[in-house]
Amino acid sequence: MRKPLIAANWKMNKTIGEALTFAGTFGQKLFERFEGGHIPVDVLICPPFLGIPALCAVFAGKPVYIGAQNMYWEDKGAFTGEVSAPMLKHTGCSFVIVGHSERRQLFGETDEHVAKKARAALDHGLKPVICVGETLEQREQGNTHKVVSEQIRAAFSQIKPEEVPSVVVAYEPVWAIGTGKEAKPEDAADVIRGIRETVDTMLGQGVSEELRVLYGGSVKPANIRSFMLEEQIDGALVGGASLDPEDFFKLVETAHKTKG
Ligand code: PGA
Repeated sequence: MRKPLIAANWKMNKTIGEALTFAGTFGQKLFERFEGGHIPVDVLICPPFLGIPALCAVFAGKPVYIGAQNMYWEDKGAFTGEVSAPMLKHTGCSFVIVGHSERRQLFGETDEHVAKKARAALDHGLKPVICVGETLEQREQGNTHKVVSEQIRAAFSQIKPEEVPSVVVAYEPVWAIGTGKEAKPEDAADVIRGIRETVDTMLGQGVSEELRVLYGGSVKPANIRSFMLEEQIDGALVGGASLDPEDFFKLVETAHKTKG
């Protein structure tokens, strides 16, 4: 069984103080709800780099994972402005988002960069959350499956079958991100089925059964249930609706109720 995962991608939002305020409210709700400390859903928060140490300290020993939104693939050296996998691991991160469409579109990340980052993350004990997804133009041209499959092939080119349980894929159609226009759950499930087929073709039949695949793009409390009802969808990567602690808690609670 794949454990559901609800992940917050805060993007470039929240100062350290604001992150701590969020953590106080969210943590209180979460730990009151799940007394005894066992949460049947993996909860991940990815703040900007600066917020990572504070959140790691607040949630130390608690079942809330902290991750980064990006990293560089080299361990150290003359790479001004970059942060490496060992640095993130040492600070207490468990996950790192790689290849988010904003990184691909605004910062020139290529499939090759994404593959290197995913590889470096795994080498240092971080679970990569590999983002893939088509643009509106690509969808309208009927190329969704082709585009996503190429992104998956590149990202998984240096990943071994036994590492797949430590990998997360987030299928995020670019046209659904931050637009309020979510994909149809059955369409997302169909693309995710294709993602699993691609991984099985590359790494061996059945390998993808242990691959967690999230949907992302305008997920909010009002629509998360319809995504969680799809057997193919193991959770959500959430931008806008993850910034509010009450909303983020509702997402975790609904995922638990739907998948539990
Ligand atoms: P959104 O962002 O939930 O605001 O659409 C999702 C994402 O970019 O991961």
